[in-house]
Amino acid sequence: MNNCKAIQISDGIYWVGAVDWSMRNFHGYETGRGSSYNAYLILDDKITLIDAVKAGFEDELIARISSVVDPAQIQVIVSSHVEPDHSGALRNIAALAPDAQIITTNPNGLKGLTARYGKLNYKPVKAGDAISIGKRTLKFVPTPMLHWPDSMVTYCPEEKILFSNDAFGEHLATSMRFDDENDLEIIMREAKKYYANILMPFGKQAQTALNALGGLDIRMIATGHGVIWRTHIDKILDAYKSWSAGEVEERACVVFDSMWHSTEILAQTITEAFAERGIPAAYYDIKATPLSDIITDIFTSKYLAVGSPTINNQMMPTIAAFLCYLKGLRPVNHKGFAFGSYGWGGQSIGMVEEELKASGVEIILDKIRVANVPTAQQLNDITAKILALNL
Ligand code: FEO
Repeated sequence: MNNCKAIQISDGIYWVGAVDWSMRNFHGYETGRGSSYNAYLILDDKITLIDAVKAGFEDELIARISSVVDPAQIQVIVSSHVEPDHSGALRNIAALAPDAQIITTNPNGLKGLTARYGKLNYKPVKAGDAISIGKRTLKFVPTPMLHWPDSMVTYCPEEKILFSNDAFGEHLATSMRFDDENDLEIIMREAKKYYANILMPFGKQAQTALNALGGLDIRMIATGHGVIWRTHIDKILDAYKSWSAGEVEERACVVFDSMWHSTEILAQTITEAFAERGIPAAYYDIKATPLSDIITDIFTSKYLAVGSPTINNQMMPTIAAFLCYLKGLRPVNHKGFAFGSYGWGGQSIGMVEEELKASGVEIILDKIRVANVPTAQQLNDITAKILALNL
């Protein structure tokens, strides 16, 4: 048993989610500040639950619901997203309220939920569908591939609340539910990290969704993770407009691994060369910083240099994993080049360059290859090439 209680966010509407204080890895995404799985309870003629937290947190969800109403009275469950961090406790709630309709998108939500949880009392909906739950209406807006095919947001016009699920959220464990009760700089940094690591490949879909939401009068965005936006709504909407448009800054990221410091010396030289021409550059030894943080910086940095020595005719596995991750995220508007040292062979640098191209990075400098240990002349030459780049 626990003593968790619902937190009222508006008259008759409660946050009943779960806070995952200790989670540090979300399918590979490093979550240094934990997360929350937000769910919302609306007390109306038809008592409605929006989303159902991750498996393992069902007791917390049920305790919070039970603090205001018997869960058996729930008549409508909105499943915004099949991913188990929002649907994991669905069967637990369905067991307590077997007659409740489970609203999901058609066909993707229906297929996904059925595959995971079997036959339940599903009510599939499509774009433009709405239901009355009493004094309030819930309008469903599918947001396909933001970031799963089934993803959906729900708008309540009487309350001017958008229940946005993954969109506009961030992995952040906090005891305070609203944006204005938390450090805005931390929230925005985590929101950017979330977008970069989860939503980056779906910029076009994000823009479509933003357009669909553009006409709505919104006084609160009740997200699926992290804080509820009520004061800084324009700030997160503007950030999403910029991020989904692929806007980048005059900044460089230099990402590398090294065996015996030669590639490291190249990375340092490249970082300093960017700085010398007035472009702030971040230096990432891949062993020292989680990939998800590096990706967050790359996301809005125009320039990217990636370095690896050669090992067994390959690039370092750390850099291969990084480039695999980068390629999947399909970054846009980036320019870069490959670099590295080698003892013999030296195949890794060309491989890095090919992977950068495959990731959509425009190659602006032929790969920098240095045998053994870079000489002072070679380092000067590298600096000169970067200073001479027509950026
Ligand atoms: Fe928060 Fe895509 O689940």
